[in-house]
Amino acid sequence: MELIEIKDILSKYIKGNGLLLTAILVIMVHGFSTKLYAWLRGKKQEVVKEYNHPLHADDRPHIPYKAKKYSKSEMLSRSKDFYELLNARRSVRFFSDEDVPLELIKNVVQTAGTAPSGAHTEPWTFVVVKTPEMKEKIKVIVEKEEEINYKQRMGNKWVDDLKAMNTNWKKPYLSKAPYIIVLFKQVYGTTEEGERKTHYYHEISASIASGLLLAALQNVGLVTLTSTPLNAGTALRDLLGRPKNEKVLLLLPVGYPSEECTVPNLKRKPIEDIMLLA
Ligand SMILES: Cc1cc2nc3c(=O)[nH]c(=O)nc-3n(C[C@H](O)[C@H](O)[C@H](O)COP(=O)(O)O)c2cc1C
Repeated sequence: MELIEIKDILSKYIKGNGLLLTAILVIMVHGFSTKLYAWLRGKKQEVVKEYNHPLHADDRPHIPYKAKKYSKSEMLSRSKDFYELLNARRSVRFFSDEDVPLELIKNVVQTAGTAPSGAHTEPWTFVVVKTPEMKEKIKVIVEKEEEINYKQRMGNKWVDDLKAMNTNWKKPYLSKAPYIIVLFKQVYGTTEEGERKTHYYHEISASIASGLLLAALQNVGLVTLTSTPLNAGTALRDLLGRPKNEKVLLLLPVGYPSEECTVPNLKRKPIEDIMLLA
């Protein structure tokens, strides 16, 4: 077949099906441009997101930073002293009802709030409970759930593992300790425009803050019990009137240990077991 003939056949075909071909062409162009537009929009949003990143914002210019410098011997003695201080920390389940000044609690919470956080989102709320009525309500909620945890929800292994702690579902210290600090992690936040704000690594960030809180309490001679009120989170959140973006991370009774306080005779792992040189 000659080239001229092929051309003739094609032009006849195109003339006969012009409308159909135009429609196919329009659909293809539309599909392609829609995809291109969506891709470009995505790119723009990525850029805007990055630009709004708190660490990149124009209104937060970098400032000079210097760390306090000690002599080597000072560093050594400070490191030992700090270790001794924190090594003396224990989880306490027997509290005295001796009062603690609120200012002390404010200072330790402020210390906890110096923790690093994903993209500086500071995803934590420390609700400090002081009134006997509120502490009693918390105790009722926690004990109710703990009784079900011990008797029904959790297996024998869990109950066995906890034997060394000598714990059960009764938590008298929750009404005895002068304070209960309920630490909420903020799963997400809200921007000034009312949009949902991502809280990167909220659980890790709030957990680091809780570590600083424990150290700060130890530093002033106060004690606490790091506790996770299993299945009581929603009831506690409702009781304390916290919003839906917050979830209970830890419940921490705070105060002095009672005169007759005892703790399980636990040993900590030696340095060889927790540190490796690579
Ligand atoms: C995340 C976490 C959750 C805990 N939950 C509870 C708890 O619900 N009840 C409790 O009595 N102790 C709880 N503990 C305390 C541990 O039992 C305690 O830290 C551990 O036995 C070591 O003792 P120490 O804190 O005196 O070094 C918890 C500790 C951590 C870190």
